[in-house]
Amino acid sequence: MNIVILAAGQGKRMYSACPKVLHPLAGKPLLGHVLETARQLRPARLVVVHGHGGDAVRRAFPDADILWALQSEQLGTGHALAQALPLLDAALPTLVLYGDVPLVEKTTLERLLRQSGEGMGLLTVDLARPQGYGRIVRDAQGKVRGIVEEKDATDAERNITEINTGILLLPRAVLGQWLADLKNENAQGEYYLTDVVARAASDGVRISTAHPDAAWEVEGVNDQRQLAALERVHQSRLAERLMLQGVHLADPARIDIRGTLVCGRDVRIDVGCVFSGEVHLEDGVEVGPYCVLCDARIAAGARLAAFTHIDGARVGANGVVGPYARLRPGTELAAGAHVGNFVEIKNSRIGENSKANHLTYIGDAEIGARVNVGAGVITCNYDGANKFKTDIEDDVFVGSGSQLVAPVRVGKGATIGAGTTLTRDAPADALTVTRARPNVIADWKRPVKKTAK
Ligand code: UD1
Ligand code: CA
Repeated sequence: MNIVILAAGQGKRMYSACPKVLHPLAGKPLLGHVLETARQLRPARLVVVHGHGGDAVRRAFPDADILWALQSEQLGTGHALAQALPLLDAALPTLVLYGDVPLVEKTTLERLLRQSGEGMGLLTVDLARPQGYGRIVRDAQGKVRGIVEEKDATDAERNITEINTGILLLPRAVLGQWLADLKNENAQGEYYLTDVVARAASDGVRISTAHPDAAWEVEGVNDQRQLAALERVHQSRLAERLMLQGVHLADPARIDIRGTLVCGRDVRIDVGCVFSGEVHLEDGVEVGPYCVLCDARIAAGARLAAFTHIDGARVGANGVVGPYARLRPGTELAAGAHVGNFVEIKNSRIGENSKANHLTYIGDAEIGARVNVGAGVITCNYDGANKFKTDIEDDVFVGSGSQLVAPVRVGKGATIGAGTTLTRDAPADALTVTRARPNVIADWKRPVKKTAK
């Protein structure tokens, strides 16, 4: 089949410079969700009709399997589909989707395809409040006669509760002629794609209807309120899926997944966490409240305490990180490593059972096993122009408040005295310390505040 995704609308009610279909849901543009579902149906042709913000939309999806049809003026859904016509395989039926209806399920579309057979298929739904939608008009036998838009409907037609979701399957061959014959003599002066339904009925084409399992599947995004509502629907479904796999969520209403989250057994996730990119939490991992993880792998048994930020990093088995720790891209903690509060690590490897527990910056460093990095230690990896590496071998003790001016190496078993500014390599097993001697002024008097007489 052909699939055409209509995505040329402006999205006026978003009040945004960003084209509507590029607004993110679960971290992915609305159109991205529709494309993903469309691809699962393996269409022979996949066409996106774009218009408003067209270049931005195209640039956001450089994928080679997408054919782009430009609708430079938005003259209606029928006109939109007509722009895609030259790109379609005329021998195949055409499924029409909307770029701003992101959550329609593959199984629902498959049902529509199955029930339509060689004929036309409409995805419809019964709504208690059908306002704003096109209504499905049926005859006394219950056969579909056409679709009437709200603005063109009579009072009686407005009482119809079965609405057009907009998603439909058009049979092969006839499509081109139907589109060519559309007129725009209606309340909105638009070429309505929905008018092909009455045409099909009078041509004696079989018209079937199928329905989604849930109404949210066919809800569109017209404003920020609807976008937020669909985001919640989507997130609660992701949360449900995790819980059914055995993941413990402190509150399924307070988790956000904007990518892929893969969890092992006995994973526990506290409230307020945000996961993006690809995150793996292996068996027994515990994530504390308000952690933000992006492209991370957390090995079995590790614990992340509250407010930990991890981006492009790995935590080793049984590691302990946070609270308030920040692991930036290229950070790898080996098994049993501990990283404590207000510690930032970038592009560094920390060996097994090493610890950096308080107020430290480690950048571009290779740290061995069983190293203790004291409070307030800083690797000075940047001279304002270039970055340099710090090597710390196994069993080193770096005293608090030290600065390691890279490039520099600390030999195995060395001790760096507190407050050292290390500007050359420190030999193994020795104490290296730079320290100004304290001066004692015994009869020193503290200044006192002058009092006015
Ligand atoms: C349309 C249907 C209506 C249905 C409703 C479901 C028509 C005439 N009406 O109405 O029966 O109940 O959707 O939400 O089809 N678009 C273009 N180019 C255009 C016009 C629209 O690409 O010239 C795209 C929009 O970006 C959007 C979709 O088509 O993704 C629907 O357009 P919209 O203006 O929202 O249609 P409605 O008037 O809501
Ligand atoms: Ca709409």
